[in-house]
Amino acid sequence: MSERVKDIFVKGNEYIAAENSGQYQDIFRKEYDRLKPDTYAKGEIRKRAYQRYTYSVEKGLSPADSSDYFQTYDSNNVDGGVDRKFGPMPENLLSNDLFNDILAKDVNYIVTSFPHLRKMNIGVHPIRYCAKFNAPSYSSPLWLHKDDEELVFLHFLSKSDNAVGGDSIISENGKSIEGVLNLSNFMDTLILTRDFLHAVTPLGCKNEDELSYRDILLVTLESKVQEK
Ligand SMILES: [Fe+2]
Repeated sequence: MSERVKDIFVKGNEYIAAENSGQYQDIFRKEYDRLKPDTYAKGEIRKRAYQRYTYSVEKGLSPADSSDYFQTYDSNNVDGGVDRKFGPMPENLLSNDLFNDILAKDVNYIVTSFPHLRKMNIGVHPIRYCAKFNAPSYSSPLWLHKDDEELVFLHFLSKSDNAVGGDSIISENGKSIEGVLNLSNFMDTLILTRDFLHAVTPLGCKNEDELSYRDILLVTLESKVQEK
């Protein structure tokens, strides 16, 4: 494992004790069943929600009024350059104790890492990739990229046994690959920054007449270019 990958990978048991993982994995999976299709993706290959929070040193964390999501075209040549509207967060996820622990821990890391920021926007994106044998699911954007976001926590939640793909790729400069990770334990996490490129391989389904899925939770520090 390269030094880069060692630095950005956090084992799931740093977020949740191994003996409690299964119980929370089931709760998150059921809440993700409630996610609405990503209407910007062809063929319902993703379901997702989005909630923006504002954080200030004075007031702490609170939900933002608007939750339109914007990326620049430079960072996303598929869906960048337009405001996107996603469904709301499932209520029971918002009130879940582990969800709130993760959010608080991630925000604390961000605040510590960016001490000059007095106020910031934090994005929360629950995403389910849904694939069939002849209809793979994939990320937007598809291949190696840097996000507009200054920092992205990619928390792995679940993947069905009949799924193939969904591997994370890390590249320093787009000319070599420094890491390929198959996140597999509940809450295994990658901390992605604009210092390197990343991608996730498309998700397929091994068997005909079945659906496969992969669930992730992104917590992000949004950048100035995403502000409205
Ligand atoms: Fe990304």
